[in-house]
Amino acid sequence: MITPAQRVSQVKEYYFSLKLKEIAQMIEDGKPVINLGIGNPDQPPAPEVLETLNKTASRPDTHGYQGYVGIPALRKGFADWYLRSYNVELDADKEILPLMGSKEGIMHISLAFLNPGDEVLVPNPGYPTYAAVTQLVEAVERTYDLQEDNNWQPDLDALEKEDLSKVKLMWVNYPNMPTGAKASKSFFEKLVDFAKRNDILICNDNPYSFIMNEDPQSLLSIPGAKDVAVELNSLSKSHNMAGWRVGMAASNPDFIKYILRIKSNMDSGMFRPVQEAAAKALSLEKEWYEEVNKVYKQRKKLVLEIMDTLGCTWKDDQVGMFIWAKIPDQYPTSKELSDKVLYEANVFITPGFIFGSQGEKYIRISLCTSEEKLQESLSRIKNIITN
Ligand SMILES: Cc1ncc(COP(=O)(O)O)c(C=O)c1O
Repeated sequence: MITPAQRVSQVKEYYFSLKLKEIAQMIEDGKPVINLGIGNPDQPPAPEVLETLNKTASRPDTHGYQGYVGIPALRKGFADWYLRSYNVELDADKEILPLMGSKEGIMHISLAFLNPGDEVLVPNPGYPTYAAVTQLVEAVERTYDLQEDNNWQPDLDALEKEDLSKVKLMWVNYPNMPTGAKASKSFFEKLVDFAKRNDILICNDNPYSFIMNEDPQSLLSIPGAKDVAVELNSLSKSHNMAGWRVGMAASNPDFIKYILRIKSNMDSGMFRPVQEAAAKALSLEKEWYEEVNKVYKQRKKLVLEIMDTLGCTWKDDQVGMFIWAKIPDQYPTSKELSDKVLYEANVFITPGFIFGSQGEKYIRISLCTSEEKLQESLSRIKNIITN
């Protein structure tokens, strides 16, 4: 009998893929389910981005393998974007590595830095991929709590009282998903000091800083951060290009070389027209982002109404494409509320428990759904709550 490797059973099927199957089945059975779960931007990329893609794809010389480090125009595009948006200087040739989305960066960084048995600090609540990849590379997940009363930032002083001698890497994600919290500059400064004192690599996963946020921040803006940190970024959410798979890692030239060593053994470059169009996207003016955010702001009003109808409480200063809210005491778990809304109103809302135990009393709604569908969700939910 041919059996899979043990790691296949170690990582669970992604919650969303299971839930999507269930939702697909419900739709097939005639139930008009509206999915408010997934952060998949539904607005289009800028017209000039599409034009660049089409023009470049029509050329006969753009279809071959590309280099492992991306085309110079894309690396320069990222460097200029970081300078303009975050006031961070990066050497386009040595300190930037284009990636196929930031998700693959989580695997590449883990393969580049972790040995089996190394400990990895993973946020709770947090993006489930950090823990899954940690398991895949046979490192040891060590969760740290994020709490609402500390603005969803870790208590570094408490953490430092623990034995951190085996910890090699710490995942942070600001602006944070799922909580929508922003990191303060003083927290980022403390984090860099903490990393230096404890020889821990900090990886900031930063795909949300252009959504509903006036003041994008990069961990790399902190002096000395590049010595101890890698930052991942992505065009998925910032430029409505999730399906294109374009992201990047930025750090010092040595760390970038380690990540490249892994990546160059895994893929054979990105389709050139996608790279040219991504470079174009990175040069867009502020007005383009503002137009995209205008749509999210309108939707947010409806999402907050849904939250209010469900009796949930929320903070207004959230960043990113989700609204995170605390469920009322009458529901013992987020799953219970999410299932009630799914089975009674045919609306899917993400239960916070899937991001870790600290998310148990919360739910998350995505802003990537039209106002029309949000309005429909609101009236269905009003019906089940008042009846
Ligand atoms: C926190 C976080 N990191 C990374 C990703 C992956 O983004 P990308 O499309 O750039 O791979 C997501 C996507 O949902 C995310 O929420």
